[in-house]
Amino acid sequence: MENHIENAEKLRLEALSALEGVQDEKSLEDFYVAYLAKKGSIPGLMTHMREVEDKAAFGAAVNKARGDVTAAYEAKKASLAQKALQARLAKDKIDLTLPGEPMGVGHVNPYRLVIDEVIDIFLAMGYEVCEGRDVETDRFNFELLNVPKDHPSRDMQDTFYFGDDYLLRTQTSAAQAHKMTEMEPKRPIRMIAPGKAYRRDDDDMTHSHQFAQIEGLVVDKDISIAHLKATLELFAKRMFGQKREIRLRSSYFPFTEPSVEVDVSCFNCGGKGCAMCKGTGWIEILGAGMVNPRVLEACGYDPNVYSGFAFGVGVERVAMLRYGIDDIRRFYQNDQRFLKDFPLK
Ligand code: DAH
Repeated sequence: MENHIENAEKLRLEALSALEGVQDEKSLEDFYVAYLAKKGSIPGLMTHMREVEDKAAFGAAVNKARGDVTAAYEAKKASLAQKALQARLAKDKIDLTLPGEPMGVGHVNPYRLVIDEVIDIFLAMGYEVCEGRDVETDRFNFELLNVPKDHPSRDMQDTFYFGDDYLLRTQTSAAQAHKMTEMEPKRPIRMIAPGKAYRRDDDDMTHSHQFAQIEGLVVDKDISIAHLKATLELFAKRMFGQKREIRLRSSYFPFTEPSVEVDVSCFNCGGKGCAMCKGTGWIEILGAGMVNPRVLEACGYDPNVYSGFAFGVGVERVAMLRYGIDDIRRFYQNDQRFLKDFPLK
């Protein structure tokens, strides 16, 4: 008759020695299936229980086999996992002595460079810088600037509305109306207001639904168009070079009377005519004029006592001319390859 207790002990020893030969996870799994899994040989010993006489001794032998082999199996599993980890760590070694990735220094957007330059020029002339706001009311963006609801010039300045009264401002000129209405008691003003403006527009090389402008406003007693001309001439020379001249062409804006477009002699060819000035020798840089008495009055200034001039500069346009930028969209794409070509401040 077979000695099942001895068989259990033999199986225990056989399994332990088989386990010693196991070197990888695949054979460990095969080992588990062969010896320890439900249908493996160690649990299989129990099928002989009915045949043995000393059931207690047999049970103890089977338990010992299962216990020892399971413990050895677990230890092997842990040591293989440890080995695998060591191998991976050895492969992925990090060299802490390597030099780090340099952190790039950001660049100032060229339109911001232009704004800062303009601010410097006007601060030196005693102007203050006003903030203005991007979300405006119809009253400040249009009504107070002599653009009533049915005025045809509104067609060119369609914008983004929040209800009937609130809108994204179409022009920094709205800042003029704020300054004048807020000034109490009424007294002279010299201010510039840089900021964003928004219009429903085609987005192409020279148009964008969002752009930057700089508004200027002077209000005082006895201000004439001579002051306007002298101021803008000084500005043009500081901005584009001492040799520059300006010329005024008559134009129309609802909030100025008379109104002018201001050209600067071409800073590329000096006025002889080139591709940049389209052969004319002149480049248009801004709109301006004498503050319309109706605007002064609407904003609380007595037009019999006060007069003033105002102007509005398109910032991207100046930056494009200045730096030879061909597409207005480049200002807003935040592409480092573009931005890094401009000087740091
Ligand atoms: N607001 C005008 C525009 O957006 C620019 C402008 C023209 C502003 C003449 C002025 C001005 O203050 O006097 O086209």
